[in-house]
Amino acid sequence: MFSTDVYIERRKRLRNDVQSGMILLLGNEESPMNFADNQYPFRQDSSFLYFFGLDCPGLSAVIDIDQGAEYMFGDDLTVDDIVWNGPQPTLKEKCLKTGISETAGLVKLPDALKKAAQQGRKIHFLPQYRAVNILKIQQLLGIHPSDITGHVSQPLIKAIVAQRSIKSEQEIEQIEAALDISYEMQTLAMKMSKPGVYERRVASAMEAVVLSHGSRLAFPTIFSIHGETLHNHSYDNQMQDGDMAVNDSGAESPLHYASDITRTMPVSGKFSQRQKEIYSIVLNAQEKAIEAVRPGVEFRDIHLLACRELASGLKDLGLMKGDIEQAVQAGAHTLFFQCGLGHMLGLDVHDMEALGEEYVGYADTIKRNPEFGFKSLRLAKALEPGFVITVEPGVYFIPELIDRWKADRKNSQYINYELLEEYMDFGGVRIEDDILATGTGHRVLGGPIPKTISEVEDMSSC
Ligand code: GLY
Repeated sequence: MFSTDVYIERRKRLRNDVQSGMILLLGNEESPMNFADNQYPFRQDSSFLYFFGLDCPGLSAVIDIDQGAEYMFGDDLTVDDIVWNGPQPTLKEKCLKTGISETAGLVKLPDALKKAAQQGRKIHFLPQYRAVNILKIQQLLGIHPSDITGHVSQPLIKAIVAQRSIKSEQEIEQIEAALDISYEMQTLAMKMSKPGVYERRVASAMEAVVLSHGSRLAFPTIFSIHGETLHNHSYDNQMQDGDMAVNDSGAESPLHYASDITRTMPVSGKFSQRQKEIYSIVLNAQEKAIEAVRPGVEFRDIHLLACRELASGLKDLGLMKGDIEQAVQAGAHTLFFQCGLGHMLGLDVHDMEALGEEYVGYADTIKRNPEFGFKSLRLAKALEPGFVITVEPGVYFIPELIDRWKADRKNSQYINYELLEEYMDFGGVRIEDDILATGTGHRVLGGPIPKTISEVEDMSSC
């Protein structure tokens, strides 16, 4: 945990921002895989972690803004629990670490909320993403699961997004601790990726690195020679000479902050000429986009800058044609770059996405474009000092998508479909780093991970 003061200060600001009523924050429960006692690794809710730091299941907190009081509801372990799972500090002992002295058994929570509801007081709660917590909201507040979305508290969501978006020095240290693990994961994958090796050997070796640090993956690893599938979670391929592997992976720091890094590596240790050409286009777009990161700039504009750079590089290769500005406006580049340039990063790999992407990445003045390619842009609004974001352009040759567009002659004034036939089995290239927006510009977080063609080839040839 951070020091007690950190959590006290965070909750104080939350009370001030939300202004009145009661805030109900639900921690997560253990989550069964196939029967109750066989559980997925426990992961605490990130907003709960942010405000309380308590990394154990079965807790619910109430912040009574009007009375200036804070309560933690939970149950101490029974003797049976201790027999099976070992001893733990008491609820009181845990809560003192987060600066809360008022604790009560979970059985008291419904009455506390009922009393407030009867007094007509506002009870603020967040969108829920786990079924068990949706049921808790139903039981505690009498709101049917299908109505919960309409009852979540916008003031609470906005206050939490405002606070969690700006990372403190300590939070950045955590992200950089996760990035130290990413360095090991990425360089190991470069060294291990050889013809004949199965993807699963590399994916599992990276996970072993993470576990050896006492950490967990920040998200399921994407490690695939089919990098054109954006979120490819299968590791069944045997890598062959001439393949490239996309490695999009990340770890959690001790306090659960995420890293999220992508590198693309040649399995043979050397990129082919064609691979070098596409890789250079992506690398150039990534470097230009990173250079553009500074406070006040809308990330949507940086996304568009990257799109123009990609399109311009593809035009130089003859894969695109015509006026680049117009091609990007028409969305022609989305045949090759179908997703957004990046997202917020923090306690979640897509930070705060559980609270609603529109609150995290958009603003009253900037609304999501629903068109293909743009609708997946998770972050569009102006950057502020303290934002940590990913910058991750890519070029992906997706045969099914190309076939469909070609059949429709879609954007054919901007796309050379004939030449594209030669790239159908190319795969994809993605390059991603984690960037802090500073007061005046940006800082690429973590130590450098091999990224230029020669750096990647050198590491891959070890
Ligand atoms: N790095 C995985 C993702 O952004 O979804």
